[in-house]
Amino acid sequence: MVRIGPHTLYHGDAYRLRDRLGFFDAEFMDPPYRFDNRGGGAFRKSRTGADMIVAEKLDQGFDISIINPLRAGSIVIFCHNDQLPELLEYIDRRYQRFCLLGWIKRNPSPMCNKHYLADVEPYVHAWNHGHHPVGKHHDMHRWVTSGTMPAKTFKHATVKPLAVMDKIVRNMAGRTIIDPFMGTGSTGVSAIRHGKIFTGIEKSAKHFATAVERIRSAWEQNETP
Ligand SMILES: C[S@@+](CC[C@H](N)C(=O)[O-])C[C@H]1O[C@@H](n2cnc3c(N)ncnc32)[C@H](O)[C@@H]1O
Repeated sequence: MVRIGPHTLYHGDAYRLRDRLGFFDAEFMDPPYRFDNRGGGAFRKSRTGADMIVAEKLDQGFDISIINPLRAGSIVIFCHNDQLPELLEYIDRRYQRFCLLGWIKRNPSPMCNKHYLADVEPYVHAWNHGHHPVGKHHDMHRWVTSGTMPAKTFKHATVKPLAVMDKIVRNMAGRTIIDPFMGTGSTGVSAIRHGKIFTGIEKSAKHFATAVERIRSAWEQNETP
């Protein structure tokens, strides 16, 4: 465990740790997606991220029972289009309300794989009473547009752009926020920029080290009492 000001980062398994950490105002999840990552032909060679995704099993999905409405007032979950039926059915039975939103990728992977080009990626924001979305008028649109982060930037294939994270974090109510699949710590950086108190969990030592570095640097630049 590493503490950076009021923020706490755990190097470990979210399925074992999350229950012990208690209630948070908001939970932000970018878990391993479940999707068919084969194919891509000639395009694949120029997008090394696809092979990194396979190597780190980021196409194998996650255990949906980690989504627990008793542990956070609201939740945002990123997912692949193919996961939507299962996810929406699960969310609908457990939360007061939800909204399906998305972010538009300016530079999506060209791999089509007999599917649509992945230029829009969905996320779901669900909440229970008293934890509804918040934000100024201009921030309440359902789509945010950004370029993607090249896999080589932080040696991670699926780093979310901060423009997307910032918009979502501004829409989540409350001061405390947890990300159980924090990867390189993008949620933490955004949380700190918005004066929230962040907790993160990551199981890969390499990505945990990157998250510590990014979050420490964000804390030093944005220190708030
Ligand atoms: C989609 S990535 C998150 C990327 C992150 N949003 C970012 O911007 O860097 C999912 C992360 O979950 C981590 N992960 C997978 N299973 C986990 C588990 N059981 N406990 C903790 N972390 C896990 C993976 O190592 C990976 O870094």
